[in-house]
Amino acid sequence: FRPELKDQFGRQATYLRLSITDRCDLRCTYCMSEHMTFLPRKEVLSLEELERLVTAFVDNGVRKVRLTGGEPLVRRNVMSLFQGLSRHLANGALDELTLTTNGTLLGKYAKQLVDCGVKRANVSLDTLCPEKYAAITRWGRLERVLDSIEKAQEAGLHIKINTVAVKGKIEEEIDDLIKFAHGRGMDLTLIETMPLGDVGFDRNDQYVSLSNFRNELSKRWTMADIKDTTGGPSRYVRVGETGGRLGFITPMSHNFCSTCNRVRVSCTGTLYTCMGSEGSVDLRDALRSSESNAAVEGLIRETVFAKPECHNFSIDETGTSGIKRHMSFLGG
Ligand code: GTP
Ligand code: 5AD
Ligand code: SF4
Repeated sequence: FRPELKDQFGRQATYLRLSITDRCDLRCTYCMSEHMTFLPRKEVLSLEELERLVTAFVDNGVRKVRLTGGEPLVRRNVMSLFQGLSRHLANGALDELTLTTNGTLLGKYAKQLVDCGVKRANVSLDTLCPEKYAAITRWGRLERVLDSIEKAQEAGLHIKINTVAVKGKIEEEIDDLIKFAHGRGMDLTLIETMPLGDVGFDRNDQYVSLSNFRNELSKRWTMADIKDTTGGPSRYVRVGETGGRLGFITPMSHNFCSTCNRVRVSCTGTLYTCMGSEGSVDLRDALRSSESNAAVEGLIRETVFAKPECHNFSIDETGTSGIKRHMSFLGG
């Protein structure tokens, strides 16, 4: 028997998204400013603490774990964490262990990830033009990500491409991205830009409503609704011309909170029951002050119960985000 993590509205948290570092080897313009300051290392949970934390969630009914960041693969010895977590897959407690990555290091780690039981990975890619890629990420090399994707597929990983829909850019990229992803058997998901953290310019300038964009796309592509199979927030369509799946994540224009099954933990061990609200609880102290998980589990259950009904993203008159923390702190 495993207890369940139910909230006050009856939703069950079965999916944990855990940021294992706030650091990243890129600086995407919608995510960080160029001179982002990262947290001192002692603030960030150790690999052992991360593993204990996952166990606490798994022991309370979580069946899917996604490691995020920052960029999870820049964390030193990250494979030992995957290895440690893979035991939950082996004993059937977890259905899925996966990650969201920018892809720079995925080629290097793909085989080892597969050996740890990882079957899928989501790779962030916003453009197929090397110059634009370098501009968005501030110094990334497109070629490197494309090479990683190839290596990951060779190793047997199923790859989903995540593209943040940035106004003025997505319109130019979308057709190529659909052809690229679907031509290689990958799903493609578009994400609405969310106002998280200060990035040095007006958030309104980046935002495009995917609900409207989808109507635009349907003039060129045949799209039929299909049921989601991944347990994520994406609403998928099948594109007639390619046979591939295209997902829309629309936290801003069409909210999906009523079916939310997710909780998030930052790299410092703070549990947030929603990405778009400030309600949180610190698990790190409880983790560090006892070898037993009992106190941590108690906090988790209490906090999940109080999960808000819906997110609360906002942009003020100056174009600044209401929520000050960055995506990289908590993970996407
Ligand atoms: P699958 O398991 O493949 O369905 O993954 P997923 O779509 O849940 O995960 P992924 O990391 O690919 O998510 C893509 C992005 O969607 C995240 O980085 C977030 O930006 C956004 N997202 C995911 N879940 C939520 C959510 O609960 N609320 C909001 N506002 N955005 C979310
Ligand atoms: N809004 C939406 N998506 C974002 N990502 C990073 N910052 C934002 C933002 N402000 C995306 C990344 C990656 C995932 C982890 O989150 O591109 O796909
Ligand atoms: Fe790094 Fe991802 Fe943020 Fe880009 S979006 S800077 S790859 S954490």
